Amino acid sequence: MDLEWFAIGAGTVVLLYIIYRFLQVLLNIIGPYVIFQPIDLHKKSGASWAVVTGATDGIGKSYSFELAHRGFNIFLVSRTESKLEATKQEILKKYPDVEVRIATYDFTNPSPAAYRELLSDLNEVNIGILINNVGMFFEYPEEIHKVEGGIETLANVAIVNVLPPTLVSLFKIGISQ
Ligand SMILES: NC(=O)c1ccc[n+]([C@@H]2O[C@H](COP(=O)([O-])OP(=O)(O)OC[C@H]3O[C@@H](n4cnc5c(N)ncnc54)[C@H](OP(=O)(O)O)[C@@H]3O)[C@@H](O)[C@H]2O)c1
Repeated sequence: MDLEWFAIGAGTVVLLYIIYRFLQVLLNIIGPYVIFQPIDLHKKSGASWAVVTGATDGIGKSYSFELAHRGFNIFLVSRTESKLEATKQEILKKYPDVEVRIATYDFTNPSPAAYRELLSDLNEVNIGILINNVGMFFEYPEEIHKVEGGIETLANVAIVNVLPPTLVSLFKIGISQ
């Protein structure tokens, strides 16, 4: 008899756990569409502009379009002026109500003077979001002393991955002197 009650108790606990997990999965799938409110990025960021680094291809470009779709004005930053101009026109064609500005910057350049120039451009508008998408990694995994390009590549990887999150963020507190 005791064994029977134990089996019923254990079965009930397992069943409740399965139902709980099922409801959790269901909530995660349908919650964003019917229950949860999207975060109000305009309110949260307190500004109408977003800056996207590495904005002319791939992930950065997608972010730029998504933010424009959400009504943000976009500041596009990457190396190639022609790609920046083309991306700007594409965004404006799809979202004519937003403003788009561009700035060329090669983030392998660690010069504080060059960053000051970029920040001074960014500070002309009120930016509340930074998508620091630009990044660099090796073409393929390799022992560090055999990496193609040697110390220059290693230095660039460190510079591109480490400096922009700190230095481009300075627009927010206006340190561009
Ligand atoms: N795609 C993936 O599966 C994946 C996975 C994990 C992480 N990531 C990381 O996510 C980021 C974006 O990836 P993605 O695949 O979207 O890259 P992508 O398509 O190659 O686009 C890179 C963008 O960054 C710009 N860029 C490249 N080097 C730059 C530099 N030194 N200074 C300024 N802008 C530069 C490029 O434009 P210009 O050439 O005109 O400068 C372009 O707009 C990278 O950091 C990547 O490592 C990607």
